[in-house]
Amino acid sequence: MLDIAVAKSALPKSGALVLLLEEGGTVDSPTGALWKAADEATGGAVSRALAVAEFKGKKGQATTILAPGAGLSRVIAVGLGKLDGLTGNTAEAVGGTAVAALAKEPAAAVSTAGLSPDLAAAVALGAVLRAYRFDRYRTKEKAEDKPKLAKLTLLADNAAKVKSAWTPQKGVAEGVFLARDLVSEPPNVLNPPEMARRIEKLSEIGLKIEVLGPKEMKKLGFGALLGVAQGSSQEARMVVMHWNGAPASKDAPLCFVGKGVTFDTGGISIKPAGGMEDMKWDMGGSGTVVGLMAALAGRKAKVNAVGLVGLVENMPDGNAQRPGDVVTTYSGQTVEVINTDAEGRLVLADVLWYAQEKFNPRFMIDLATLTGAMMVALGHETAGFFANDDTIATQLFDAGKATGEAVWRMPLGEAYDKLIKSDIADMKNIGGRAGGAITAAQFIQRFVNDKPWIHIDIAGVAWSGKDTATIPKGATAFGVRLLDRMVADHYEG
Ligand code: BES
Ligand code: MN
Ligand code: ZN
Repeated sequence: MLDIAVAKSALPKSGALVLLLEEGGTVDSPTGALWKAADEATGGAVSRALAVAEFKGKKGQATTILAPGAGLSRVIAVGLGKLDGLTGNTAEAVGGTAVAALAKEPAAAVSTAGLSPDLAAAVALGAVLRAYRFDRYRTKEKAEDKPKLAKLTLLADNAAKVKSAWTPQKGVAEGVFLARDLVSEPPNVLNPPEMARRIEKLSEIGLKIEVLGPKEMKKLGFGALLGVAQGSSQEARMVVMHWNGAPASKDAPLCFVGKGVTFDTGGISIKPAGGMEDMKWDMGGSGTVVGLMAALAGRKAKVNAVGLVGLVENMPDGNAQRPGDVVTTYSGQTVEVINTDAEGRLVLADVLWYAQEKFNPRFMIDLATLTGAMMVALGHETAGFFANDDTIATQLFDAGKATGEAVWRMPLGEAYDKLIKSDIADMKNIGGRAGGAITAAQFIQRFVNDKPWIHIDIAGVAWSGKDTATIPKGATAFGVRLLDRMVADHYEG
């Protein structure tokens, strides 16, 4: 992870300097302190360059000035937009934009003059998140092609306050990175047992971990989850992660449940070849749950939470489940499996029921790369969610606005529920093409009793095909920051 340091504000004698400047500001504005100092040291070179570049401090505007003098290798000005109404989101994006412009510098200093400690920490978070790279499997990349940036120093008038604002954010960033690492791993490496082993390592940061294998799950009666797993040579796992941070250790926990299909071929209802490699990230929901639990532990959240992930590989071998099979779920309800590619809901059915029976949670939130239909509905910008409770729905929506991990509520209802009636069993595992994300949610709701519950379908947002200000192309870890924020705003203290 990009190393973040905090130091007293002063013009650096060498290296790169980032100036975060408000729209329409001058050297005498609150954000202009080091602009002024840099101008004085360079005989006005910085101001002259910014004028030529028509830099106005507009949100997202960035200008690089090379070798302006005074020993500085480069000065990068990034626009904050108007200072009043500056949000954490914008501050993060500014940090990310700065990092993208700093690839060739080993270290840099960022002036946070005029920003609150929280906004300064948001700049750092955005910077760290953008600097993420997954390059484990690149053996031939030349050193000069790799980004060099290793250390960023935040220059602040109140360094101590910025430091304490950054510390918990660092814990969150670590959770995001863990989720991105898991989702990025190829499916031959990250199979269910390997993912369980990686999760077990989180006992080092204070999580209590339990792992259940096929034997234990068979005994419990996880017929739906095990039906999906039976076509693979890889054994299934369910992993339960506990974080006990609430002052009252007996407080009912929040439960987070993730779909963890480490590869989804579709099974016997096999998918077309084109793009099937994307299905390595069909464990994105569980990646997010693992990352969230790491984030809660990393920032020592004052809450009790349990994360549960159902880990399987959906493969079509000679023992694979067939279209037409009827499986008995842990809840006792039976399911006619019409399409073996609608497997995520089968996994969630058993894990959700277990979470509810075992932990009597305050609420349950599940995350899953569940349907192509959700991607069609909302594209890659917003995740769709379904809720049986307006209070937690509002809390989630607000957390989406605050973090930029946007969510939009979708409908549930009896008319949709009817579409999964089966002629032979209690339900079938698909509706039709129309409303496919909704019938999937209806299916899941049949495994929720009277608990407040949200299902988030992250199929469209778990992976990004392009760089954004704070997310490099690839695994996004969508949901870690969203849920961490919902917890922080409503369930601690
Ligand atoms: N993992 C897929 C959904 C998916 C598709 C996620 C594309 C991300 C990108 C899921 O298991 C699936 O195959 N869903 C089917 C359901 C259908 C058979 C009812 C789908 O969406 O096509
Ligand atoms: Mn599938
Ligand atoms: Zn799937």
